[in-house]
Amino acid sequence: MSASQAKWDKIYSQKKKATPSICVALKENSHLLPATGRALELACGLGGNALFLAKQGLRTDAWDISPIAVEKLQQAATQQNLPLSATQKDLTALDSITEQYDVIVVSHYLDRPFCKKIISMLKPEGLLFYQTFTAEKVSAGGPSNPNFVLAKNELLELFSELVVLAYREEGLVGDQTQGFRNQAMLVAIKALTSGK
Ligand SMILES: C[S@@+](CC[C@H](N)C(=O)[O-])C[C@H]1O[C@@H](n2cnc3c(N)ncnc32)[C@H](O)[C@@H]1O
Repeated sequence: MSASQAKWDKIYSQKKKATPSICVALKENSHLLPATGRALELACGLGGNALFLAKQGLRTDAWDISPIAVEKLQQAATQQNLPLSATQKDLTALDSITEQYDVIVVSHYLDRPFCKKIISMLKPEGLLFYQTFTAEKVSAGGPSNPNFVLAKNELLELFSELVVLAYREEGLVGDQTQGFRNQAMLVAIKALTSGK
């Protein structure tokens, strides 16, 4: 078992009654979702985004390194009779991926080399909702490891092959007690003409 799996298994086995949350990028832009199709949440944890996507009627897959998180998510989905399949997968150890999705959501996870794969896993006109922590923050919290936080505008650079529909990153500007802080979010579409 990898150190990462052990760390996350411990966290999820200690969470007794956690309510999985939906990220702002998806919640505030859910009107962009297609009425039908396949969706995927990566590094889903307890799968707040995946459950939301399945409730919209999308056939949803959800992947996470922690089998404990995956089992809890699958149980929640089954109880609610949702079209959701949760699978244990280590994103850093995936071979070639042939599946393609109409919607991919990632929240609070960053693996820069994997971003190219995410683009290839989007169908033409597929939508990406991505939200995670920034290095610039107005309060404590979030990852301290620089590998897991975004530089300014970095989401835009990582997904520059896609067409931007919404982007938000407020940094330290203005009244720091308000707004969307400590994170950046991107909603983007894979245009028919863009490369893989
Ligand atoms: C901060 S949590 C975010 C969970 C969820 N996306 C959310 O926003 O609530 C990070 C997640 O990434 C998962 N994770 C970490 N490394 C991973 C890897 N190599 N492959 C797949 N999932 C991984 C962890 O198990 C954990 O659920």
